[in-house]
Amino acid sequence: MEMNSLNKSVICQKQFIQIFFLIISGILLFPSCKENSNQKHYKIGFSQCTGGDEWRRSMLLEMQRELFFHPDLELVYKDAVNSTQTQIKQINDLMKEDIDLLIISPNESAPLAPVVQEIFRKGIPVIVLDRKINTDAYSTFIGANNIEIGKAVGNFVAKKLKGKGKVVEVLGLESSSPAQERHKAFSDVLKNYPEINVIKELQGQWEKDTARKVAAQNIGALQEADLVFAHNDVMVKGIYEVCHKNSQNKNILFVGIDGLAGPHNGLQMLEDKMLTATFLYPTGGEEAIKVASQILAGKAAQREYKLNSIQIDSSNVKGIKAQSDKLLNQQEDIQKLNTEIDTLENTFSSERNKLYFTIACLFLTLSISAWAFYLVKEKQAANHQLALQNEQITLQKDAIENISEKAKQATEDKLRFYSYISHEFKTPLSLIISPTDELLTLKAISQKDLKSNLQLVQKNAYRLLRLVDQLLDLRKTDAGKLLLQAAEQDLVMFVREIVKDFQNKAIKNAIDLQFFSQENDLKVWFDAEKLDKVIFNLLSNAFKYTPKGGFIHVQLKVKQNNVFIEVKDNGEGMSEKEKNQAFDLFYSGSKHYSLGTGLGLALSKEFVNLHQGDIEVSSQKGEGTTFTILLPLGDQHLTENEKIDQAPVISPSVHQFTEEDKPDSTLNGSQESEYGTILVIEDNTDLQLFLVEKLRKEFNIIASKSAEEGWDKIIENIPDLIISDVMLPGIGGFEITNRIKTDFRTSHIPVILLTAKGHIDDQIEGIKAGADVYLTKPFNTTYLIETIKTLFNNRTRVQRRFSSEFLFKNENKSEKKFLNELTAIIEKHIADSTFSVERLSQEMGMSRVQLYRKVQALLQMNVNDYITEVRLNKAKALLRDTDKSMADIAFEAGFNSPAYFTTLFKQKNNQTPSEYRKNKGGTIFKN
Ligand code: FRU
Repeated sequence: MEMNSLNKSVICQKQFIQIFFLIISGILLFPSCKENSNQKHYKIGFSQCTGGDEWRRSMLLEMQRELFFHPDLELVYKDAVNSTQTQIKQINDLMKEDIDLLIISPNESAPLAPVVQEIFRKGIPVIVLDRKINTDAYSTFIGANNIEIGKAVGNFVAKKLKGKGKVVEVLGLESSSPAQERHKAFSDVLKNYPEINVIKELQGQWEKDTARKVAAQNIGALQEADLVFAHNDVMVKGIYEVCHKNSQNKNILFVGIDGLAGPHNGLQMLEDKMLTATFLYPTGGEEAIKVASQILAGKAAQREYKLNSIQIDSSNVKGIKAQSDKLLNQQEDIQKLNTEIDTLENTFSSERNKLYFTIACLFLTLSISAWAFYLVKEKQAANHQLALQNEQITLQKDAIENISEKAKQATEDKLRFYSYISHEFKTPLSLIISPTDELLTLKAISQKDLKSNLQLVQKNAYRLLRLVDQLLDLRKTDAGKLLLQAAEQDLVMFVREIVKDFQNKAIKNAIDLQFFSQENDLKVWFDAEKLDKVIFNLLSNAFKYTPKGGFIHVQLKVKQNNVFIEVKDNGEGMSEKEKNQAFDLFYSGSKHYSLGTGLGLALSKEFVNLHQGDIEVSSQKGEGTTFTILLPLGDQHLTENEKIDQAPVISPSVHQFTEEDKPDSTLNGSQESEYGTILVIEDNTDLQLFLVEKLRKEFNIIASKSAEEGWDKIIENIPDLIISDVMLPGIGGFEITNRIKTDFRTSHIPVILLTAKGHIDDQIEGIKAGADVYLTKPFNTTYLIETIKTLFNNRTRVQRRFSSEFLFKNENKSEKKFLNELTAIIEKHIADSTFSVERLSQEMGMSRVQLYRKVQALLQMNVNDYITEVRLNKAKALLRDTDKSMADIAFEAGFNSPAYFTTLFKQKNNQTPSEYRKNKGGTIFKN
């Protein structure tokens, strides 16, 4: 299946984002990668026992200065603040940080040994700095020789005290190696001087505050002492402060160790005479970094680096201090330079980053543009795809709508077809039920009536049978089950025989029926049974629509490879619409032409098509109709199973003729009816004849088989009542009713619609069209006759109302309009005594008969009487409203002489004109 283009686009976008961020991170990481690729980077862990004093700070500064020359080294610094436990923990932390080398200045020698052993055994080089540790598990020791320093101090003290005196020794932390070594070496030297007594050993633990504290506790010993030897300069400061505070023994000599440069440190104390002497104790910070770098570079290192010490006293302090200060200054300068370089490096790094960022942004912009371009293209493609899909969907939708429309049409056609079929069944059923009803109700019946009624029943039962047969045949063609059974036989003889069967009918109806053929005989492959039905149907049709004296000519011709059978008549012909739909089974018009003879034409077409032939119609309204059958010659067009050897014999008895007797369209009742004249419009000859037969006993009857013909008869005769079928060829029953009810000449005539359309909607439509009664087939004749009589009686009642002046105000619109128009014309010519019915009918646009019948129907008086009534009304008005003389009034109202006027007035109004004038038009109307 083709991947949805939108999904494709989303996947592409994801890929694009991934690639894009890969490139961006590559660009941003590029500088660090470059640095790393040139030089390996090492992490040095530095565990300091305490960073709180100047000596340790000095050690760290030295390290940092040296590190400047080793950019590959990184120092991770931890300060244990004099706590051995903290230091152990911090070393473990450093181990976890994956350091490459450990520098340790242990707080105490013994307790730190295990952790150092552990780290060393893991393969991490260890540099022990300044203080020693109770293990061999380290790489290198860097520091001054505390034994040498202890000895040097002992010798200095002996010399200074000249072999005699009292000494107080202030020791560093007992468990640290420098304190142990310094103490031992110092004690060993003094053993050589028995008169020098160490009167007190104080535990200063390397710290000024502790020293001050123990000094305060041993002030007595200090008062006695000639010299105080403290293991570092810082502790001297503490002791010194205590001694001077107590203002005792101000000549006491102080000796210390470290000899640090800088304010408040050893060298300054020496200059300030606080110290008699100090011994340089180098921190080894610089050396530690150098050796570490060496080890990490894989170069061999010594097991021990000894740092030199010197004695500093008043004799050399100046020089050393000057040198130290200079060194300090230089170191500060270096520091500043370092800082500047760092700043520059930072600036460079930041500028470089900016550059990278700018490049990245540029790349980003370009990429986004490319991406946007790609997306636009993708979207255009997707839109195009969508448009195509849309188009396809629309086409599919149209196709579905088309199919659904066709299905709907087919359903409607079928429903319509069923409705027609029902109609076709109802008429013969009426003609079976009505005579049967009559036979059953009549007490005595003549042999003649019995026979004619039974003949009607039989005829219509056969008609029903034929209809059913045709329906079944049609069903077979529809289902494709109707098989052609063609045999080769003489078509000329076959057609001639069928035509011969119609000969009697032709004579009876005075129709010139003839058969012509170019050929004497012609072998044609055809299905005799089916072709017989087709030709029989065409001839029946021709007879149905051809009047007496007309002709029906059947001709057989051969042209190229086809034979043509033509059935031509000069009957009433078809309209263009009827012609176009002649073979259409589901024709939607008012009346199906082919249904005139059942389903004949539609079925005929199916039969001819089975022969691979064709049937056509040409027709002109009023001139006649020609049906032409085309059959192909030979048997090339037939399949093997459409052919049979022996043709069935068609007996003439299969031709059930329905006697389509032409109704007498000018039929009149045998006796003058008390009710009046009825026009029957019914296209079914049998039904028309039946109705005429039943009604003519009591009414005058005129009959017509189409609405068009019926209308002419209505206008000509102005009948008193009209009975019309609804489904008629051409103009239908609703339409003719509407026409009758809207034409002022005919609007008063009651209409009965007689139809097979029994649905309530059809009835409503009929009533809307103006029908007075709607009767559905099959109907009861007695009921019809009673309905007609009721309508006539109602009409008489209405006439009575019309004949009074009252009607002019209240009656129905078209009648009122008619009477107003009639009265207005009479009034226009009222002074003209010669104004006649002839002129009045001319001005009304009606014939004299029409006017006479209409006025009679509406006012129950003749037209002359009505003219006189209008004249008299005019005279009344003049009598009432003017003083004119009788003679003037008589002439103005159109009376030839005043005497005639007076006589007539008296006759109509029971008073003379003079009496009327006297009474001022008093009540003269009596209803
Ligand atoms: C500093 C210090 C120095 C001394 C050294 C001994 O913490 O006390 O004064 O010389 O340690 O390890």
